[in-house]
Amino acid sequence: MNELLKKAEWMNSDDVRPYVFVRHENEIAQPGSIHRLDWFKNSPIFKDPLDVKEIGFADRIYSIEERAFGPSNMAMPRWVFYDCAVMPGFVAGFAARPKFLSKVVRDILDPKKYPASQSPIKTSKVLKEIESLDEMDWVPLSLFIIIPTMHKGEWVAHNLCSVNSLLPKEEQFYGLGFLSKAFGLWYANVEQCSGMTQWGSPALKLHSHYGHLEVIGAYAPVHSHAKTITYRVQVNTHCWEKFFNKESDLAFLERYGPTGTFIDPKSEDSMMDLQQKIELEQGPYFLSAGEIAQKNLDEKLMIYRLKQQY
Ligand SMILES: CC(C)(COP(=O)(O)OP(=O)(O)OC[C@H]1O[C@@H](n2cnc3c(N)ncnc32)[C@H](O)[C@@H]1OP(=O)(O)O)[C@@H](O)C(=O)NCCC(=O)NCCS
Repeated sequence: MNELLKKAEWMNSDDVRPYVFVRHENEIAQPGSIHRLDWFKNSPIFKDPLDVKEIGFADRIYSIEERAFGPSNMAMPRWVFYDCAVMPGFVAGFAARPKFLSKVVRDILDPKKYPASQSPIKTSKVLKEIESLDEMDWVPLSLFIIIPTMHKGEWVAHNLCSVNSLLPKEEQFYGLGFLSKAFGLWYANVEQCSGMTQWGSPALKLHSHYGHLEVIGAYAPVHSHAKTITYRVQVNTHCWEKFFNKESDLAFLERYGPTGTFIDPKSEDSMMDLQQKIELEQGPYFLSAGEIAQKNLDEKLMIYRLKQQY
């Protein structure tokens, strides 16, 4: 196993594998051929979301997702998953054999205790309900959705969540959320990835580590959550390593300098200020992954820009 992944020892088990939940037409032609990386040795499990038999797998994904995003009122409606994820894009994550899971994890993923709340499985006469995780071959533990955009080569990261957000620290699979997105980007040969997340979200600790993170929108009143950052990264696997080894990113420090201005996750004014600068094309502006990693979620973040602009 790669030394960097020592903290994610669950990756070592043959009972945990990456999965791709993708319709046949959207399968990736030459997976993992652009980013040179030896992290994902176990071949993925394939699941077809258009296959009715996979409703149980999909419902376990929904069950994690609705609890992870419920508190922020952003649980994904089933039609959004189908119309905006499965049809145009690509869904990936990690899944485990039921026997691999501890009692606590089994409990949190239990289909009887935590059914997917909008699933048709309860009322349908043609679908068979799952009574226990043991009926499943693989149990999903995380979810990452990417969708290709009209801008050639650019994908949008649409959703990321992991069962870790529902578990006590000692039961968590370290790096599960981070590695789910990393696997998806690697597998689908994604070179440019945009995304959206809320200022102050723990997800920013992850999203900032896939490449130098440019802020392309600091305030998004068109979104249901206006205090949303819209970002873009050129995917660079050298940055991924730093998520695990916590080394400083010298290339970032060489290229970008602090502007002396900050985003305060509690201040809409700070978001609007940066948004206006972006709209006036005074950027590009960046955030430092190393700094985000060290800070608490509610702390101010320094805005960086290129040291030399030609
Ligand atoms: C955000 C989320 C995807 C992170 O995935 P995860 O599997 O929990 O996190 P990972 O194990 O990959 O990463 C661990 C790192 O993230 C940090 N982290 C994760 N959740 C955190 C939290 N709630 N507060 C602070 N840091 C957090 C850990 O401290 C750790 O950093 P460290 O190495 O410095 O200790 C997951 O918590 C989640 O599903 N949250 C709810 C949904 C959500 O907000 N999704 C993101 C929307 S864009």
